[in-house]
Amino acid sequence: MNLLKELNEKKEWLRKLATLLARPAGATELYRLADAVRRKHTGDEVHVRGIIEFSNHCSKNCLYCGIRRASRAQKRYCMSADEIVTTATRATEFGYGTVVLQSGEPAPYEINELCAIVSRIKSETDLAVTLSCGVYSPGEYKNLARAGCDRYLLRFETSNPDLYKKLHPESSLKNRLQALQHIREAGLQVGSGFMIGLPGATLEDLARDLLLASRLNLDMIGCGPFLRSPETPLAGGNRALLHEELYFKIMALLRLLNPFAHIPATTAFDSLTGQGRDLVLQRGGNVFMPNLTPTRYRKQYQLYPDKPCVDEEADRCAGCVKARLKSLGRPLASGPGHSLIPS
Ligand code: 5AD
Ligand code: SF4
Ligand code: FES
Repeated sequence: MNLLKELNEKKEWLRKLATLLARPAGATELYRLADAVRRKHTGDEVHVRGIIEFSNHCSKNCLYCGIRRASRAQKRYCMSADEIVTTATRATEFGYGTVVLQSGEPAPYEINELCAIVSRIKSETDLAVTLSCGVYSPGEYKNLARAGCDRYLLRFETSNPDLYKKLHPESSLKNRLQALQHIREAGLQVGSGFMIGLPGATLEDLARDLLLASRLNLDMIGCGPFLRSPETPLAGGNRALLHEELYFKIMALLRLLNPFAHIPATTAFDSLTGQGRDLVLQRGGNVFMPNLTPTRYRKQYQLYPDKPCVDEEADRCAGCVKARLKSLGRPLASGPGHSLIPS
């Protein structure tokens, strides 16, 4: 929380950033700069991380999310350990360097079972393993690291504690930030980020989101547009709340503030606008995260509407990514793509 206090004291910065965001002109120049900074510090290679959405069970009720506990819209599933490991090995087949295992919070596996899944992937492949399954205790993060887990993703979602409370009635921003600290202390590479355009967030909140993401000295920063999900308390009204350009300006500023971070072109950008992920790669992004989840589960993991790739097979996405990178003139990175943050 001291961190938030510190950021709120940077009033001049927040105001300047908010003004920059509000200004309609200058986006093209910002994109050009972000692309140049990305090239200089992370190179032209794009790291490809396959996401396995291994379960849509969730004990949380985040107001924005399509698979929140109260949602009756989707049938709940949980992939077996064998199925997760077999799916992960497909990443190697496609030339990806990392698998990201994501689920609702918490994962419907005991921590020792989760550790066993990670160990199996690590012993059967050369892949880096990232987990994204919510808040655990410091000891549990340490166990995951011991099992071979390389990285952990946990978005802070918004830097406004009151808005956080409204959107997550059962938790607090303080706990979320504490968990990020525990992840780091466990020796895992840390990823976090926020949603752009949450209802109730002001430009100053977005400016603080940018500063918080930067201040946390993250190895990876994943942000994406908020999209209204049907059958959630935030359904209805315009689907995207901000001017389209603003989403990309945030991504460009993220790159300028974090020259060495891995910044993915997240899936939700394709739902926001056609080829949105390609645009992010040209405006600061250096990571692409294709879906590896077996097709029969994909429709049941719709956190937001119009999610791309729900009818595609994993090999179709693999071919698509390669074609997209080729058309952007960007090579597929080899190797696991670990943190580039200088220590
Ligand atoms: N729109 C965009 N992103 C969403 N997420 C959840 N619901 C939505 C939505 N309606 C994001 C959250 C979460 C990640 C897994 O998905 O940021 O951390
Ligand atoms: Fe669960 Fe994550 Fe959705 Fe929140 S955002 S309801 S924790 S899956
Ligand atoms: Fe899945 Fe393009 S990434 S079809």
